[in-house]
Amino acid sequence: MDYKIKKNAPIGVFDSGVGGLTVAREIMRQLPNEKVVYFGDTARVPYGSKSKETVTRFSRQIVRFLQTLDVKTIVVACNTASAYALDEIEQEIDIPMIGVVKPAVKVAAETTQNGKIGVIATQATVSSHVYSSYLRQLNSRMEVIGKACPLFVPLVEEGLLEDPVTDEIARRYLLELMDTNIDTLILGCTHYPLIRDTIGRVVGDGVTLVNPAYETARELKEMLAERNLLTDEKPDLGSNQYQFYVSDGADKFKTFANSIIKYGILTAKTINIEEY
Ligand code: DGL
Repeated sequence: MDYKIKKNAPIGVFDSGVGGLTVAREIMRQLPNEKVVYFGDTARVPYGSKSKETVTRFSRQIVRFLQTLDVKTIVVACNTASAYALDEIEQEIDIPMIGVVKPAVKVAAETTQNGKIGVIATQATVSSHVYSSYLRQLNSRMEVIGKACPLFVPLVEEGLLEDPVTDEIARRYLLELMDTNIDTLILGCTHYPLIRDTIGRVVGDGVTLVNPAYETARELKEMLAERNLLTDEKPDLGSNQYQFYVSDGADKFKTFANSIIKYGILTAKTINIEEY
């Protein structure tokens, strides 16, 4: 195949909604010269309660859309899509893809002292057992306790990052995990780092929280460097270095994105993802 990937093309990043912004902002921080195109599937969030077939179909449409923008790589900034769709879709395209699950597993395995790791995630990610299977491949004695926290995604999408309702839901979900003696807790959904403080208050100092964003961006950088795909251009001031697309509610998304990403004024456009 003589498909040539362009090193100065943008990096595509996607999620079901705003959660993947936690990964995108880390990519912007670690790779400041790169262009980033982000897609949030705000019309169809949440993914975590949907089937593997549906999440794979949605992900495939997003990948097709991002490819129309000529991206050089795609970061699946969504654990649910990483668990359900990544293995299949990466076989179908000519550009490299990376997800968030493997980076999270690597950090958690390096962090735990007692081998007891909690994973909070969507119902889909927990049911896929992707975390326990990767962690046990590294060490078969690892104990992995999964807990689905389905209400966290709508709370984050609604911007209730610091709110008594979020505190109460976090206590309901997380207190039972505390009897299991875990010393490490993977934030296995990219929305959850946005309520990291709330989660940290409930689980306390004895549990280390793992956010895969840093490691994902680091692995992306390494992969691009190995393939000689790091950009050799400096960003033009005033150019469109970061572009955001959503499937609904561009204004709401834009306000949210601007509140957590501090790299200039960001705008967002709505597209019809069903066309892809
Ligand atoms: N942020 C996503 C994840 O990491 C999906 C959340 C959802 O849409 O349910 O799993």
